[in-house]
Amino acid sequence: MMDSIILEAREKFVKLIEGQLRRSERIKRQKEFIRYDQLEKILIGVVGGDGIGPIITMSAHRALKYLLRKEVQKGRVEFRIIDDLTIENRAQEMKPIPEGVLQKIKECHVILKGPTTTPREGDPWPNIESANIAIRKELDLFANVRPIKVPEKGIDWTFFRENTEGAYTLGSDGFNINDDVAIDFTVTTTEGTERIARMAFEYAARNEKKKVTVVTKANVIKTTDGKFLSICREVAEEYPEIEADDWYIDIMTAKLIDEKRRTQFQVFVLPNLYGDILTDEAAELQGGVGTAGSANIGKRYAMFEAIHGSAPRMVREGRGKYANPTSIMRAAVMLLSHIGYEQEAKKMEKALDICTREEKKLVITGRNTGATCEEFANYVIETIKRIDSG
Ligand code: IPM
Ligand code: MG
Repeated sequence: MMDSIILEAREKFVKLIEGQLRRSERIKRQKEFIRYDQLEKILIGVVGGDGIGPIITMSAHRALKYLLRKEVQKGRVEFRIIDDLTIENRAQEMKPIPEGVLQKIKECHVILKGPTTTPREGDPWPNIESANIAIRKELDLFANVRPIKVPEKGIDWTFFRENTEGAYTLGSDGFNINDDVAIDFTVTTTEGTERIARMAFEYAARNEKKKVTVVTKANVIKTTDGKFLSICREVAEEYPEIEADDWYIDIMTAKLIDEKRRTQFQVFVLPNLYGDILTDEAAELQGGVGTAGSANIGKRYAMFEAIHGSAPRMVREGRGKYANPTSIMRAAVMLLSHIGYEQEAKKMEKALDICTREEKKLVITGRNTGATCEEFANYVIETIKRIDSG
């Protein structure tokens, strides 16, 4: 009995290990980043997703359409609406990304994406893998970049979360060895760590940041986190002008709320799961996950999304139209800057700062006590126009 269990598990392990070795080779082969300035036309896919997704995504899309109107006219930029990445379609095909949708996404260069519902045990939906994670893996979007700013508290952080491996590597491929023992895995690869570390240090170097903080739990998770840390240290040596320090994830979560200490951090680089957790905490300090944008960057593709979920409860309670589009609008700012429209990005960022921090003529409460998503989008677009006319 025991033997057959072990044999079965061994077979599964062999497959997983083969898959990971292949993935590591694939990473090695993809060396160069796509150059947007060399493209005749940039295709921007707009994927609404589920729940409040289509509502907030439309707001961000409207702002982008305004800012890029001349580029669209010239044919340099094209928007493509991809609206069938819904939980209903995913459940029907029993796939995290329906085949047809994946194809359409892969035809684009960058994607603006609304939140998608992630099923879990007990939901009315089959327990398929998260669409987010599937897209990140499928398009090899290895860097999850999340900026957090609270100027009045001296907070200006940029998180570089490794986005394709760590505790997320196997997603739904962990398994129950028998009724009593369940196994998941965490995977760290040399190339996978090098590329995220280099991106963090490059960002620091180009933006006059003085320090990069590596966050792991290398004292306990010695092999995989240990590897992550030592590779980050190696990359750090190439940037002698930047200080590299390292912290463990537990004390780091505490230090983010230490008002004296936290202002000293600037750039963070960290494995997937720690990045997931720490960026929610950081976003909360900025005013909640509804206020933070997120970029998922790879060498060929990039996807920009809200950091929060699809809020099915808001839709069920008829409050969908009061959803806050700030997070996906911040993501749209990152999209503009990523494809080379730096001035447009600055304008939109300034407008968002005015609308959410300085002027605050409209406030979103998530219910009918505040502005609707559409009214708020109008406010942002009008503010962009105000900035335009000096
Ligand atoms: C995020 C989200 C996702 C993640 C979920 C929706 C799968 O929490 O983007 O941080 O865990 O990465
Ligand atoms: Mg998260």
